[in-house]
Amino acid sequence: MKVLVTGGAGFVGSHVVDALIEAGHHVVIVDNLWEHGGGKMENVNPKASFYKMDIRDVALQNVFEEEQPEVICHLAAQHSVKISTDDPAHDASVNILGLINLLQNATRFGVRKVVFSSSGATYGTVEEMPVDESTTQHPESPYGTTKMASEYYLRFWKNMYGLDFTILRYGNVYGPRQDPLGEAGVIAIFSRQILLNEPVRIDWDGEQQKDYVYVRDVARANLSALDAGGGETYCIACGKGTSVNTLYRGLVKEIGHEVEIRRAPKRPGDIYLTYFDCSKACDELGWQAEVGLEEGLRLTANYFRENLGIA
Ligand SMILES: NC(=O)c1ccc[n+]([C@@H]2O[C@H](COP(=O)([O-])OP(=O)(O)OC[C@H]3O[C@@H](n4cnc5c(N)ncnc54)[C@H](O)[C@@H]3O)[C@@H](O)[C@H]2O)c1
Repeated sequence: MKVLVTGGAGFVGSHVVDALIEAGHHVVIVDNLWEHGGGKMENVNPKASFYKMDIRDVALQNVFEEEQPEVICHLAAQHSVKISTDDPAHDASVNILGLINLLQNATRFGVRKVVFSSSGATYGTVEEMPVDESTTQHPESPYGTTKMASEYYLRFWKNMYGLDFTILRYGNVYGPRQDPLGEAGVIAIFSRQILLNEPVRIDWDGEQQKDYVYVRDVARANLSALDAGGGETYCIACGKGTSVNTLYRGLVKEIGHEVEIRRAPKRPGDIYLTYFDCSKACDELGWQAEVGLEEGLRLTANYFRENLGIA
């Protein structure tokens, strides 16, 4: 099948592209290699057709006309909470107007389905665990708000124009190609710092837990949704929390030495425990996370070891 992957040069999107190509699909990428995002030419699978283009561009229609994709995996986004707070207009422009441009072209050119990358950030602070698809969304950032609004646009488009969708709400995705200099992505950040013998910063007491999911598992979830889960939403994560201290110790074990730990206070909005119930994805998409934390940390550390040129 022909699949258009927006954001296919980015961290998660490039793994979705690789998995689609491995499964025998034809892939078209639209990505503008935004300077503050994780999109890089070196991530682009050479077997995919690549268009360096903004999803807000009117010229997007030419890509649809030329390529006639059957399904869209939509990952292109402004995904930084900080940038969304500093520049909410840019966040809304890419995440909302970009989505609308995509949806208008999708209906115009007969696309069957959109698989949308949403986020745990749409939930905001949740006291009761686990989080599942029925947990009320109270986003606490412009980014979480535009992701939640995007979900509603998809539902509108399905009701109004019959364009099918599946929404995937990811936990904390980690793995090769994640930006180790970004604001989030603690596993990439720690991997680089430990490999380079630099100090790591651990906020609060380090026992705060989040639900980390390996990027190839997230890519597989996108594949599972090509033909299943129409009109539905799924939480995509591991189903258990892991503390920052555990991540640090796991990477130290993998890399072979400790580094200085600098302690810092709790950050606003930090919560003590987040994890997801992913049983709906298991029951309806036949998907569950397969890469355990130990293996995921090893694969990630190995990637950064090679990438940083460390023997
Ligand atoms: N990484 C995570 O933990 C995580 C968690 C939840 C949801 N998500 C979602 O997954 C998706 C991918 O995130 P990622 O971590 O791979 O980020 P990323 O920055 O690596 O990938 C996003 C890609 O979108 C591209 N892009 C940005 N603005 C664009 C525009 N206007 N036009 C065309 N392309 C544009 C960027 O160049 C980049 O390649 C995003 O939608 C993000 O919100 C990620």
